[in-house]
Amino acid sequence: MIAGGKIVEIQQITVRSSADGHRAEPNAAGEGHLQQACEEVAMGILTDDMKRVIGEQRLGFVATVCPDGTPNLSPKGTMAVWDDGHLIFIDIRSPNTIANLRQNPAIEINIVDQLVRKGYRFKGTAEVLDAGPIFDQVLASRRDRGAANPMRALVLITVERALPITSPAYDLGVSEKEIRDRYRCYWQDLWAGGNDLADTAMLE
Ligand SMILES: Cc1cc2nc3c(=O)[nH]c(=O)nc-3n(C[C@H](O)[C@H](O)[C@H](O)COP(=O)(O)O)c2cc1C
Repeated sequence: MIAGGKIVEIQQITVRSSADGHRAEPNAAGEGHLQQACEEVAMGILTDDMKRVIGEQRLGFVATVCPDGTPNLSPKGTMAVWDDGHLIFIDIRSPNTIANLRQNPAIEINIVDQLVRKGYRFKGTAEVLDAGPIFDQVLASRRDRGAANPMRALVLITVERALPITSPAYDLGVSEKEIRDRYRCYWQDLWAGGNDLADTAMLE
């Protein structure tokens, strides 16, 4: 299986994960086996830290492709980890996203921790499920948790590429603690009705 920085062979296809364990990319050799290799890669592509960030933030920005080729981007606050290679979100009222995915399963999701200005981007393919065992399981779980909104469908994403995203503020050598502290002040001031935000030495 794919793990930090290791190279493994899956049926003549070399699959390499990056040293930071964030990326797994199949090479072009043996295209006939590419799909199977990607499925095996996807099974282990989500790291513990990715799962933590998704579990904490829950809000992902979902990009899909419209029939005319233009992008569609909208937030989903029901983003969750399904397993080591899959994410899910709930269609409550996302008609364009769902229509796009039914025609073209390509998807990209960004999830960013607004305090530490770090997150992940996930690229893959999505399946819209409006029945079946996974749908029933998630529906039951939402009912148990008292979710009031209707679940029109469930979107199951097979993650094929997962990469970290960091603010350029880190390029300046600023520590995570410093960025977190600055943004905590920023948000506290904003929530308190402060309008003196220009005084905050903002980072990107
Ligand atoms: C913070 C936030 C979280 C949201 N979460 C969801 C969600 O989990 N599922 C959903 O269907 N809509 C959600 N929405 C609403 C959709 O993003 C919104 O209805 C949007 O217009 C749908 O656009 P689309 O059809 O292009 O996807 C959320 C909106 C916001 C602002």
